[in-house]
Amino acid sequence: MAGRRAGDGRGAFGDRAQVVVASQAAGSRRASPTAEAPSDLNSIDLSGRRAVVTGAAEGIGLAIARRLLASGAAVSLWDREAALLEETHAKLSAMGATHRVCVELTDAEAVARAAEETAEALGGIDILVNNAGIAGPTVPSWEYPLDEWRRVVDVDLNAVYYGCRAIVPRMLAQNYGRIVSVASIAGKEGNPNAAAYSAAKAGVIALTKSIAKETADRNVAINCITPAAARTRIFEQISQQQIDYMLSRIPRGRFVKVEEIAAMVAWLVSEENSFTTGAAFDISGGRATY
Ligand SMILES: NC(=O)c1ccc[n+]([C@@H]2O[C@H](COP(=O)([O-])OP(=O)(O)OC[C@H]3O[C@@H](n4cnc5c(N)ncnc54)[C@H](O)[C@@H]3O)[C@@H](O)[C@H]2O)c1
Repeated sequence: MAGRRAGDGRGAFGDRAQVVVASQAAGSRRASPTAEAPSDLNSIDLSGRRAVVTGAAEGIGLAIARRLLASGAAVSLWDREAALLEETHAKLSAMGATHRVCVELTDAEAVARAAEETAEALGGIDILVNNAGIAGPTVPSWEYPLDEWRRVVDVDLNAVYYGCRAIVPRMLAQNYGRIVSVASIAGKEGNPNAAAYSAAKAGVIALTKSIAKETADRNVAINCITPAAARTRIFEQISQQQIDYMLSRIPRGRFVKVEEIAAMVAWLVSEENSFTTGAAFDISGGRATY
């Protein structure tokens, strides 16, 4: 792991009231593993880094936030579910420096304000994980209700763009940044009866590649990941038949665990990921195509 360099943007966390600092010994790089987290984590050094994780109130985002905190980063949790966000924030604040913003990510101006508020609270933003997403209805493409189509594309693609639009300039200005967007294997394969979701996730893959090329001459890495299905609350939006179909298409024969996704993200947002940008990292348990 590369050591800390002067002027690499890594700094002390801000000292604002919203930031809850761990009660554990200051300077400790890793929190004790909790009952919900694996205990055999590789050590990834994110100390001094300031991260935003969208959709962090539960599911994959929560697992990512937990893993980044365990790696020493300060983490701002962004989500629209106010009560759940408060609950998660209270839980995670024992692990490290945390901050939260209740934000509707499909509102570009609200996202810009959230970035401003977070940068002020944490002293900057080094890491962005665009994770929030919805599945939308499971129906044939020609029967897709138009308002649902727009909603899925708005959350799963447009909101990712709004996050990048608000935060990439900050990363360029400090010549340091790492972004990971959570796409899906559906964006590579085009899942049947999930056209809006698949199209939006394919859009995230292309968006990632475009922004990565625009920023590749700086110390900024922008990648996405394409997970197979993970058992989270998003399953409540999907028919059992579709869930069974997705499982049947995973060669590993099981759903990916949220901690396994978080492990991949943790390395991708680390300083050590200094070369790869504009890539879609497969985490499909053997299904990756194209
Ligand atoms: N679980 C899976 O099978 C799976 C597989 C591949 C990719 N993904 C992707 O992973 C990401 C996380 O999914 P998950 O399974 O953890 O889902 P989840 O439903 O468990 O959690 C999603 C979180 O995002 C938040 N959110 C949704 N829309 C939002 C909005 N407009 N503004 C603010 N917050 C919003 C929700 O409140 C929730 O906390 C999504 O992008 C999803 O498409 C999930």
